[in-house]
Amino acid sequence: MLTGKNIILGICGGIAAYKTPHLVRLFKKAGANVQVLATASALQFVSELSLATVSRRPVLRGLFELEGPGDEDKTMHITLGEWADALVIAPATANTIARLNAGLCDDMLSVCFITLRPDKPVLIAPAMDGHMYGSPSVRRNLSALAGQGCLILEPESGDLASGQCGLGRMPEPEAIVKALVAMLQPAGESALKGRQVVVTAGPTREKLDDVRFLSNYSSGKMGFAVAREAARRGALVRLIAGPVNLATPQGVERIDVESASGMLEAASRFFGECDLFIGAAAVADYRPENPVKGKIKKNDEEMELRLVRNPDILGEFSASRRPGQVSVGFALETAGGIGYAKEKLERKRLDLVAFNVSDGATTGFEVDTNALTLIDREGHVTELPVMPKGELAGRLLDAVEPLLPRR
Ligand code: C5P
Repeated sequence: MLTGKNIILGICGGIAAYKTPHLVRLFKKAGANVQVLATASALQFVSELSLATVSRRPVLRGLFELEGPGDEDKTMHITLGEWADALVIAPATANTIARLNAGLCDDMLSVCFITLRPDKPVLIAPAMDGHMYGSPSVRRNLSALAGQGCLILEPESGDLASGQCGLGRMPEPEAIVKALVAMLQPAGESALKGRQVVVTAGPTREKLDDVRFLSNYSSGKMGFAVAREAARRGALVRLIAGPVNLATPQGVERIDVESASGMLEAASRFFGECDLFIGAAAVADYRPENPVKGKIKKNDEEMELRLVRNPDILGEFSASRRPGQVSVGFALETAGGIGYAKEKLERKRLDLVAFNVSDGATTGFEVDTNALTLIDREGHVTELPVMPKGELAGRLLDAVEPLLPRR
């Protein structure tokens, strides 16, 4: 499963560190070479001797180590980043998560995170008390790391070392290995390899005047996750992005737009040549009929705004596509109603629709997790539970791949 893969396991100082010798054993059993990096406090929770014995390598800790895997002619932090096929950080504490997001570089783990080749996967398994996990700073840091392509493995609920019961337990080592195997799955097996994929993502802004606009809360995270995963599977991905605050995924061609009309103009350039179109953008349905030059002046009167319909980008693609081109849409509602999604599948002539409900907490706009119900033309319904958007993107593409014509 992981034969010949070089894995760096970064261990932080949390009680879940006691499970890491077992994790190392599982990696080794799967055929991987494992180099353990431990933060200073990690070794308060797990013995260095145990880790060195199961990994068959000395545990690296300080910045100034001289011996490790890789090219002996280069300095250690560079060789580690080049040697690794993947970096797993488990357990990841709030402290390390903050340090990685800030770009600090003062121990072996943080340096390795920065020097890792950008195309190599990073899996972060946070484990901490439930209140800490829910704190705004931890959420913000995890969100930023997810935004730059790290896969965050959500902690599980259960008894915590603090005596509380709740979210915060590190997933069992078996689950961590499974997630890593999925991340390292070779793209050569994907039906998306070499295909042209267009993904729309984020909100659109519809100008009222030169300083104001109508928009929505879409963060673009779901669409960016889909674009990243499609590129990882070897597709040539064009990401048409509304105004969002997200880093461009590795290997993706990004085209920034502002309005629905701009998004249609950019997307339609690829209508003819793309194999797959995924409409993940939350396109504004209406725009002000007559946007004003400069700034609308207020007065004592009420103001009426006349809105006109925007073009339906996904609808236009579906209507004009040739046989074999696959069209996938999202249907977001604020409450139940899978019927709306089925209606959208028909009306927009989609091959697959991903229905999601925005509850403002674990699903929908802005948050890092989501839950999707996938419905295809044959009426198959697949319910995917709440999980990180990165993981969900993989599950969505797993369902899309069989819809692509065989080569
Ligand atoms: O029509 P509705 O917004 O409910 O449909 C949602 C789906 O259609 C999403 O996939 C969205 O990206 C796409 N859409 C679009 N252009 C619009 C409106 C929605 O591409 N103007």
